[in-house]
Amino acid sequence: MTQRFSASPSPRPGTPTHRSGTPGTTALEIVVGCKVFVEVKKEKKEETREFRKAEILSVRTHNDKPEYYVHFVEFNKRLDEWVGLERIDITKDIERPAKKRNGKGGNQFRDSDTSSRVGSPLREVTGRGGGGVGTTVGQKRKISAIEDIPTPNAKATTPSTPLVEATGEDYEDGGTPGNGTPLGPLAATFSKEQEIERLRTSGSMTQSHSEISRVKNLERIHFGEYDVDTWYFSPYPQEYSDAAVVYICEFCLFHYISERQLRRHLQKCTVRHPPGNEIYRCDDISFFEIDGNKQKTYCRNLCLLSKLFLDHKTLYYDVDPFLFYIMCQQDEFGCHMIGYFSKEKESTEGYNLACILTLPQHQRKGFGRLLIAFSYELSKKEGKVGSPEKPLSDLGLLSYRSYWTEVIVELLLETKELNEDITIEDISARTSIATTDILQTLQSLCAIKPYKGQQILCLSDGVIASYHKTKEKHKNRRIDESFLKWTPPHFTSNQLRYI
Ligand code: ACO
Ligand code: ZN
Repeated sequence: MTQRFSASPSPRPGTPTHRSGTPGTTALEIVVGCKVFVEVKKEKKEETREFRKAEILSVRTHNDKPEYYVHFVEFNKRLDEWVGLERIDITKDIERPAKKRNGKGGNQFRDSDTSSRVGSPLREVTGRGGGGVGTTVGQKRKISAIEDIPTPNAKATTPSTPLVEATGEDYEDGGTPGNGTPLGPLAATFSKEQEIERLRTSGSMTQSHSEISRVKNLERIHFGEYDVDTWYFSPYPQEYSDAAVVYICEFCLFHYISERQLRRHLQKCTVRHPPGNEIYRCDDISFFEIDGNKQKTYCRNLCLLSKLFLDHKTLYYDVDPFLFYIMCQQDEFGCHMIGYFSKEKESTEGYNLACILTLPQHQRKGFGRLLIAFSYELSKKEGKVGSPEKPLSDLGLLSYRSYWTEVIVELLLETKELNEDITIEDISARTSIATTDILQTLQSLCAIKPYKGQQILCLSDGVIASYHKTKEKHKNRRIDESFLKWTPPHFTSNQLRYI
């Protein structure tokens, strides 16, 4: 069965007619850098039309009509999309970009080209815009595209088999381009293709001043039994941008631009779980630990995939300094990736997690919480306190806040029951949550109150009630530390030299 998960509602059928001829803006005036009012897609067509201010990031012609890539001002970038003129309110004045000193304006039919963008600085990529929080995931569309892919013939890992151990070898493919092949020297001036390769190989996107990365380049991926709409740009090779769908093997993460190529790959791919050591298995959930230095191809492909849904710092090529923890759900076919987090082998800032992702088709089911809980279990084993790498995305902050709240409130209620006193340092020592995160969480709960010249911790009835509600919701999915078979890996300074 194939399901499609969309990050935003499908286009509203019967959207208003083209309003050319009305006084106001014409297509020719809408250029990169302009701000216009764009109709927001609605779930139900009977809902009233709503327009939001949006910046034009790119312009193209599609079926002989202009299309505009828009970013809704103050909303998360994952809502950016291509729109036709019929969704732009051309009766309203447009905000024009500031004039360039040399007097050249933007070329409306030029793709995201630095020279055509004037006066608008690179947007922040913290992803803290408010509007994306209500993102709709879960729209399902059954398609039969590759339902006849042969059933995997390799023996799947079943819960009764022992934990999987790493072979120490990287996955290999038949030389498919774009699967982590090293790239040649780069020219001083970049074509779009070279620019994408540069983004792919030069590390963090936040360090990139590229305009190309502002525009989403892939529409959809096919992953396991799901078709998933993408959220952000990811530096897959340039030729992938022309494909409607990118096909990814859910086990080894090799990617292809046609269903036929994936089908051929699946006939010979015997991999049924991520590489690395399986360090946790409880019920149908497993975690695999992967060393970026040993499994470069897999980890680079993982970073490429996760960039589609993560818009803050993500590395593609320089995976050596990281460990990757992949969370899978097992069935008779193998271990299906649900999400992952990465972690620096050595973090001078005390981070215990670099990037975290739940694949969109599995979001809002408590898996993000499991990933976060697991990262703290590792910190507890290390005897360290940890915190997620900043900046957090909007969804990252929501998930962390929810986890911190639950863990801290649980501990406070426990100590109250035992009539014990507890300080913020004690909470930190017992949970491995950093004191700054504890303080922020307690402040957000209004739990720090002045009392006789001191500050005391006090939980309101509302906070306690919502804690019980959330706990009930999560009771079936928890990390049981007794199933963690892991000793913290130690790296010599020689092994960390590449950092
Ligand atoms: N809207 C509102 N609340 C949300 C949403 C949402 N779209 N998504 C998660 N939450 C909240 C929920 O309230 C939930 O709390 P609750 O259980 O108390 O209700 C909490 O976050 C956790 O929800 P989960 O279902 O456990 O999380 P999920 O599996 O959806 O994963 C994650 C969360 C990993 C942040 C996911 O949204 C994701 O992958 N997003 C894209 C990548 C990203 O932004 N990663 C974080 C970057 S920051 C960093 O890497 C350090
Ligand atoms: Zn494969």
